[in-house]
Amino acid sequence: MNPQDLMNTARTLVAGDKGVLAMDESNPTCNSRFAKLGIPQPEDARRAWRELIVTTPRLGECISGVILYDETIREQKKDGTPFVEAIAAAGIIPGIKVDIGAKDMAGHPGEKITEGLDGLRHRLADYSRMGARFAKWRAVIALGDGIPSRACIEANAHALARYAALCQEAGLVPIVEPEVLMDGAHTLERSREVTEQVLRTVFHQLYVQGVMLEGLILKPNMVLPGLSCPKQETVDAVVDATVGCLLRAVPAAVPGVAFLSGGQSGELASARLNAMNVRFKSRLPWALAFSFARAIQQPALEIWQGNETHVAAAQETLLHRARCNRAARRG
Ligand code: 13P
Repeated sequence: MNPQDLMNTARTLVAGDKGVLAMDESNPTCNSRFAKLGIPQPEDARRAWRELIVTTPRLGECISGVILYDETIREQKKDGTPFVEAIAAAGIIPGIKVDIGAKDMAGHPGEKITEGLDGLRHRLADYSRMGARFAKWRAVIALGDGIPSRACIEANAHALARYAALCQEAGLVPIVEPEVLMDGAHTLERSREVTEQVLRTVFHQLYVQGVMLEGLILKPNMVLPGLSCPKQETVDAVVDATVGCLLRAVPAAVPGVAFLSGGQSGELASARLNAMNVRFKSRLPWALAFSFARAIQQPALEIWQGNETHVAAAQETLLHRARCNRAARRG
């Protein structure tokens, strides 16, 4: 590991007003998003969708990095150019999702633990040879009656820290993603309380495992009421809860916070990020950026519909959402 290289990559991912585009859906997740729109799901449809994304003209003006999936990092454009080469040629840093999914946690109904540590050192070396310069691991924390448990939070934080340490050893910047889910009827205050508890536990574990904070990116949820909570909140209330929570729990040495979108609409995710930067940007120790999947991809996917003749219109929509998020970073 070269600490300076890690710091440079981490800073580049959140530099200026750009952000990260997540396109690392596992095959089952990608297929289910296709199925909802009636798009067939052979491997070539997934490949064609990913080619559409990585060949979007001018994407590199808004996007600093893209997160790929194991299938995608090995794929090529129709003309034979590897995706990784096309991405690098657009001035974008290729990254890779390395967890193998959130699985039911033994003895803890309704809770998940993310797996993928076994053999990770070797997989990271392979991905690094393929051109990846950063990685991602997502832990999911569900809210509900009596959950999350301390066991779930600590086990997931421990796994995130071990993953992050292995990434830095391999020269890859870890994107550390503890996601407190939006599903449920919980209030904004409950989301704030749990998000703070999760972040404090994650940073304690990162410290215990010797992870260099200057060489990672945090990818948290925004603090939001549950999707079925009767009291939805104003943009300002979400911004106050989110920024307040981060200020209490995220050390200043971390170069950037790149939010996931987590089921918010593209417009709301941009509006909330924009308001955070308008109100707080000059006073925060870390950059507030984005690492969205659905909030950038979904409107374009709805236009594409698997139809070759819709590619240009879908790319325009994708670029529009990327530009809105670039504008949100500027505040
Ligand atoms: P969403 O922005 O769709 O939540 O996805 C981000 C991500 O990378 C999930 O792991």
